[in-house]
Amino acid sequence: MAYTKNNKKKIPYYCNMISVSNLSKKYDSVEALKGISFNIKQGEFFGLLGPNGAGKTTTISIMSTILEPSGGTINIAGFDLKKDPTECKKNIGVVPQEIALYNDLSAYDNLMFWGSLYDVPTTELKLRIDETLKLFGLSERKNDKVKTYSGGMKRRINIASALLHKPKILFMDEPTVGIDPQSRNLIFEVLEKLHKEGMTIVYTTHYMEEAERFCDRIGIIDNGEIIAQGTLEELKSLSKIQETIVVSFTNLTDTLYEQISKEWKNIKRIEDSIQFFSSDIKSDLSVIILKCNQAGLAITHIDIQKVNLETIFLSLTGKQLRD
Ligand SMILES: Nc1ncnc2c1ncn2[C@@H]1O[C@H](COP(=O)(O)OP(=O)(O)O)[C@@H](O)[C@H]1O
Ligand SMILES: [Mg+2]
Repeated sequence: MAYTKNNKKKIPYYCNMISVSNLSKKYDSVEALKGISFNIKQGEFFGLLGPNGAGKTTTISIMSTILEPSGGTINIAGFDLKKDPTECKKNIGVVPQEIALYNDLSAYDNLMFWGSLYDVPTTELKLRIDETLKLFGLSERKNDKVKTYSGGMKRRINIASALLHKPKILFMDEPTVGIDPQSRNLIFEVLEKLHKEGMTIVYTTHYMEEAERFCDRIGIIDNGEIIAQGTLEELKSLSKIQETIVVSFTNLTDTLYEQISKEWKNIKRIEDSIQFFSSDIKSDLSVIILKCNQAGLAITHIDIQKVNLETIFLSLTGKQLRD
């Protein structure tokens, strides 16, 4: 029998905690999801990575019962979302993209409010609130009104409120956008702890670094379709682009860049450097150097970077993730 990474907990790795099949969503004329399918195992940290407008929030919102799908089926912790939404909801904690808190209430009272929506007995709820405030480094500020909090602190309370009923599954929709590095690091530490303890986590992001760092498996979503899914290693093996050759120059101009881009399809300019995306470095490197020399470009530095999620995305879609 196979187990999760956390062998001590003996969680069977084969059972699907979440199963999404042929999920579609239309908003009037916009086809936001075009029949996506994926399975997430118990204890897995699953990342949904894609650019703005890909369909991440729509997916998470449907899975959280906030939004009705147009078609498809979802099973969460053994329950059919359509038939048993209440049972599904008991098992999930949701951190939406837009923070929802009462600004005129203290952090403590916000947590009391959100916690009371679940059937947690008051004495137990109070204990959990204290525990959670400590976990997120906010015990000392618990009686201050949320409107005095920074964006990062609000986000921490927002995540805390999703954990009070001890859900088996946590859904998070781009939780680190626009927050300070200190809060971001604290959130990462908490997520790593929850993951180690066996929580199933679904995390959407458009930051490839986050997906690379945390996720056991990643689904790459674009234009309402999952275009690839697997572990990072599995995704790397799908990529045509295997290396990025980054060449820096002393005299790169718009005209020279244009000239080079006519001769080399997959390139990107970053200030005084050009990134050349390559599927065969052995043959490409010498050609690139030759073409740059012929164009009169003076090379100062060459750096070779291995395949990553950015290049995998480019390779699969022909677009840059950060466009
Ligand atoms: N309420 C809505 N009405 C119409 N179109 C919407 C609505 N919400 C999202 N969309 C569209 O659906 C697509 C997916 O959006 P969304 O799920 O928010 O993507 P993401 O979270 O990946 O940025 C986009 O084209 C977006 O403009
Ligand atoms: Mg979104």
